[in-house]
Amino acid sequence: MTQLNGKTALVTGASTGIGLAIARRFAQEGATVYLTGRRKVELDAAVEQIGDRAIGIRSDVSKLDDLDRVFTEIAERSGHLDIVVANAGVGDFGPLGEITEEGFDRVTAINLKGTVFTIQKALPLLSAGASVILLSSSAALRGVPGLGIYAATKAAIRSLARTWAAELAVRGIRVNALTPGPVATPGADELRAEIPQGDPAAAPTPLGRIGRPEEVAATAVYLAGDLSSFTTGAELYVDGGVTQL
Ligand SMILES: NC(=O)c1ccc[n+]([C@@H]2O[C@H](COP(=O)([O-])OP(=O)(O)OC[C@H]3O[C@@H](n4cnc5c(N)ncnc54)[C@H](OP(=O)(O)O)[C@@H]3O)[C@@H](O)[C@H]2O)c1
Repeated sequence: MTQLNGKTALVTGASTGIGLAIARRFAQEGATVYLTGRRKVELDAAVEQIGDRAIGIRSDVSKLDDLDRVFTEIAERSGHLDIVVANAGVGDFGPLGEITEEGFDRVTAINLKGTVFTIQKALPLLSAGASVILLSSSAALRGVPGLGIYAATKAAIRSLARTWAAELAVRGIRVNALTPGPVATPGADELRAEIPQGDPAAAPTPLGRIGRPEEVAATAVYLAGDLSSFTTGAELYVDGGVTQL
């Protein structure tokens, strides 16, 4: 497996779940991978699990000083980035009428502000032909009760992929949205447990099951590498058909 041989990648929020699966697969494909996350124990475990090609930088995407530290370290160690995956994201259950300011601020700060400043601060390091991958969500296309603010941030992510693809095309940098449906991860399992049974998000996908993080990672490899060299501004769904059928 050498789709990403010699490339340098950053995956935010890579200590568990989808981000960890993407970082692991990128390393298997030959990339050097920087991983971020807030919790030290989980991040250290992820780096140890992936091995020599993994470098952990403990940081919070919603804190601009942390992001500066991340890109300073990457600049010093590698000098450039070929792939950035803005994956760090959180959900919060809150139907209209029960939305709290704390929940709103937390979700928008990580999912939206975190993604915006991750990519903005990565810009000087991005090589010509670099690939930027933004994690959206099938929730952005469905009406899932209780996930309004989360879904709105993910709809914004899809929109940003179009704008930034247009802005960065001149540098040969591609920007695409990667949109999972329900996937078994620590964060999503916790959130799904709060969704009342009978709601659309509690139902299985048309494929009759929820997804595995490795299935999202396989599509991330495609978007990160040369196989997708003529694809930009697009959205790829890894959702068991939940938004399509
Ligand atoms: N799983 C699904 O069903 C699903 C479906 C659609 C979209 N997605 C999207 O896929 C992405 C990954 O989700 P997941 O299910 O794998 O979640 P997860 O299991 O909760 O993992 C999230 C990762 O992000 C890190 N993280 C959270 N907040 C962060 C912050 N402020 N700064 C840096 N790292 C942070 C977490 O580590 P720390 O807590 O230690 O920071 C963890 O490593 C998210 O953007 C999510 O919205 C997931």
